Amino acid sequence: MKRWNVVITGFGSVGKQVAKLLEQRQAHYREQYGVEVKLVGVARSSQGVYDAEGLTQSALEAFGHEKRSTDTPFTGTDFITSCKADILIETGPSQLETGGPGLSYIRQALDQGMHAIAVSKGALVVDYAGLSALAKHRGVMLKISGATAAALPTIDLLQYNLAGCQILAVEGIFTGTTNFVLSSMMEEGISCEEAIARAQQMGIAEPDPSFDIDGWDTACKVTILANAAFGAQLKHTDLSRTSVRDVTKEQIEEWKSAGKSPKLVGRIRRTTEGLHASVELQAVDQSHPFSTVKGTTKAIRVETDVMGELLVIGGKSDPVAAAAAALKDLEHIIRQP
Ligand SMILES: NC(=O)c1ccc[n+]([C@@H]2O[C@H](COP(=O)([O-])OP(=O)(O)OC[C@H]3O[C@@H](n4cnc5c(N)ncnc54)[C@H](OP(=O)(O)O)[C@@H]3O)[C@@H](O)[C@H]2O)c1
Repeated sequence: MKRWNVVITGFGSVGKQVAKLLEQRQAHYREQYGVEVKLVGVARSSQGVYDAEGLTQSALEAFGHEKRSTDTPFTGTDFITSCKADILIETGPSQLETGGPGLSYIRQALDQGMHAIAVSKGALVVDYAGLSALAKHRGVMLKISGATAAALPTIDLLQYNLAGCQILAVEGIFTGTTNFVLSSMMEEGISCEEAIARAQQMGIAEPDPSFDIDGWDTACKVTILANAAFGAQLKHTDLSRTSVRDVTKEQIEEWKSAGKSPKLVGRIRRTTEGLHASVELQAVDQSHPFSTVKGTTKAIRVETDVMGELLVIGGKSDPVAAAAAALKDLEHIIRQP
């Protein structure tokens, strides 16, 4: 039976869920594809664990609880090389300025002929074009569902389902946290600060919510989609961007009276001057499909030349869903002839 060896970099909320789902899906991989999928290596910030025969649940549990090692020097790229795996799943921090360790890891993996699945966004925001060219050169796949709204199909919709069409425009609610905050303000009449605090209590928003609230998360997803699906060469800082932080209770009351709902919308549109991408706060009226998208739910609407308009609403926003999106990518890799 063919065997696929997997290595995960980053073993936090998402990395741990990837490992769990991989274990739960062993029988599925054997029955559906006639292959073994083994998790052979996992790296954290300062140490890694490897077993050529596949890491056991107890080894992973112990590794997850290990204190950060400060005395043994650890180089993640060397660890990836030593694992001799077939697929890298990158779930480390999203470092947007330099691409951070994720960029080195994905480059290293592709360069040595491994397929790579990115859940972190840094590497893709900084150098999607370079990584994609490297993957092509090495004859391997670079998959990015986890970094582009995860459970909501975005990149697969554009690249697979609409293959051959010209995509005229994309708009989406790509960040569950901001939609939760705006929905809570609308439904409960609370302030933005109170809605953020509630999202934090529920584990929906990070302790520092600015990446989501200030529109950076949406900007990154729009940038990656524009670069991957439209061949653009955008940086996330090129996009005009709005924060939901400044939305006041008074504005909310005005929108309510006008029958509108505020949404943080990421947009990509072909124009006669070229591609235009942005993150905008838009008050949509009740006839707009996004008006029904509440809480942490996400959505994407696509306009095409010959397949018309498509709308997808849904997809959970949590680490399990992000892990599942990465493993959807894995299935697309292992099902290749
Ligand atoms: N959480 C979600 O729902 C979600 C959804 C979609 C995408 N994402 C993206 O997925 C990524 C992971 O998110 P998360 O919530 O799992 O983060 P997290 O809980 O903070 O975990 C991050 C992990 O990365 C590890 N790490 C840090 N520097 C590293 C390095 N140099 N080499 C190897 N590993 C390193 C950390 O190591 P230590 O354990 O040693 O600290 C930790 O295990 C982020 O980029 C995020 O933007 C998250």
